[in-house]
Amino acid sequence: MKQGFTPAGRLDIPGYPFAELERQAAQLRSAGKPLYNLSIGDPDLDPPGFIVDAARRALDDPQAHQYPSSRGDPAVRRSVARWFQGRFGVELDPDSQVCILIGVKEGLAQLARAVVNPGDEVAVPEPGYPVYSRAGCRLVEGRERTIKLDPRRGFLPDLDQVSGVKLLFLNYPNNPTGATAPDEFLKELANLAESDPALTVAYDMAYSEMCFDRPARSLLEFTPRVVEFHSLSKMANATGYRVGFAVGDPARIAALVRAKEEVDSGPPLPFQRALAALLDSYEGPNPPPEMIETRQVYQRRKRHLTEAIASLGCDVFRSNATFYVWFRVGSDEMPFITEALAQGVILTPGSGFGAGGKGWVRASVTAPDEVIESAAQALRSMKPY
Ligand SMILES: Cc1ncc(COP(=O)(O)O)c(C=O)c1O
Repeated sequence: MKQGFTPAGRLDIPGYPFAELERQAAQLRSAGKPLYNLSIGDPDLDPPGFIVDAARRALDDPQAHQYPSSRGDPAVRRSVARWFQGRFGVELDPDSQVCILIGVKEGLAQLARAVVNPGDEVAVPEPGYPVYSRAGCRLVEGRERTIKLDPRRGFLPDLDQVSGVKLLFLNYPNNPTGATAPDEFLKELANLAESDPALTVAYDMAYSEMCFDRPARSLLEFTPRVVEFHSLSKMANATGYRVGFAVGDPARIAALVRAKEEVDSGPPLPFQRALAALLDSYEGPNPPPEMIETRQVYQRRKRHLTEAIASLGCDVFRSNATFYVWFRVGSDEMPFITEALAQGVILTPGSGFGAGGKGWVRASVTAPDEVIESAAQALRSMKPY
C-alpha cells in the first residue's frame, strides 16, 4: 500500500510551545479587548529615509533585475569592509572575508549546514535565540550541547562547557537578556577559537549598534579566526529588507558561500544597496543622526518599562543594550504571563528561549510609547509569583 506524505524526520522539531497563549490572545482580540503587544522584537520605528531612497533608486538599475550573487555584490562588500575599518578598526578583505546574507537568520542556518556533519556537537546558549538550537543544530542533525548563561555571571557562559564541540553560537549584545560582553570575555573567547582550530565560533552581533552607553566591540578585534554576523534588521529598523552579512575567517566564509551557492542567489540588489547606504553614512565609528535618534527612543522606552516592572517587585536584569527588558518573576513564568495576558499585555515567556529561561519574561519596547505606557498601567496590580 502506498504511504501518505510524511515530512523528513529532521523537521521533527517541537512547534512553538506557546500556541495556547496565541489562541487566548486571538480570543481576547476578537472579543474587542485592547491588547498591548510587547512580545515581538520587530521595530515599530521607520528605517532612515535615505536607505529607502537607495533601495528605490536601485530598482532602476538594470543590474537589479538580474541574479545577484551568493557572496553578495562586490561594491556592497567593499562598503562592509570600509565600515568595519571605521567602526571597529579591523581590516577585512572584501573578496574573501565578507559574505552578504539574506538576514542573519539565513546565515546562521547556512553556516551550520557548511560546518556540521550529522552527530557533531553544537554548543547552544540557554537562554538563547531559538534559531541556534533549531536551524543551527537540529535541522542539520547535530547533537546539542546546552551551555548555561547564568545571571550571576552577567549571562556570560563558562567557556569550559564548550570543549570539543564543532560549532559554538554566542550572541552579544544578547537577545533575550540584553547582556553585553566585556573585553576580558572576548579575549577569552578569542583564545578558545585560536587554541582549537576544529571549533567554529559563530558570534552573532545582530544588536551591535544598540548599546546605550559604550559601543559594542567586535570579536574580530581579538581574533580573525571566527565568523561574525551583522544585520541591517535592528541597525536600521529594516527587518523586512532581509539583509545582513557574515565576516571573518576566509576558510569558514568560503564554506558558507559554498553552502549558499547550492541554495540561494543572495538578497535582491536594492536591499543590498540599502545596507551599503547605511554603512557608508557612518563617519568613522559614528552612526548617522537617524540611528542616534532611534537609539535614544529605545533607551528611553527601555528605562521607562524597566522602572515600571521593577516597581512590581520583579527582579529586572539591568542592561544598557538592546530593546528588550528581561526580568524574573519566580520559578515558573507561565502564571505571570497568563495573568498579564488577562490584563491585555502580551509578553514572551522566558522558556521559549530554552529551559535556561524558565522563570523569566522578555518584554520588547518595539511598540509606540502609548502602547508601552498602557501596558505598564495594565501591569500595575501584578506581583511576581
Ligand atoms: C540574536 C539574533 N540574531 C539574529 C536575528 C535575526 O536577524 P535577521 O533579521 O538579520 O535575520 C535576531 C532576530 O530577532 C536575533 O535576535
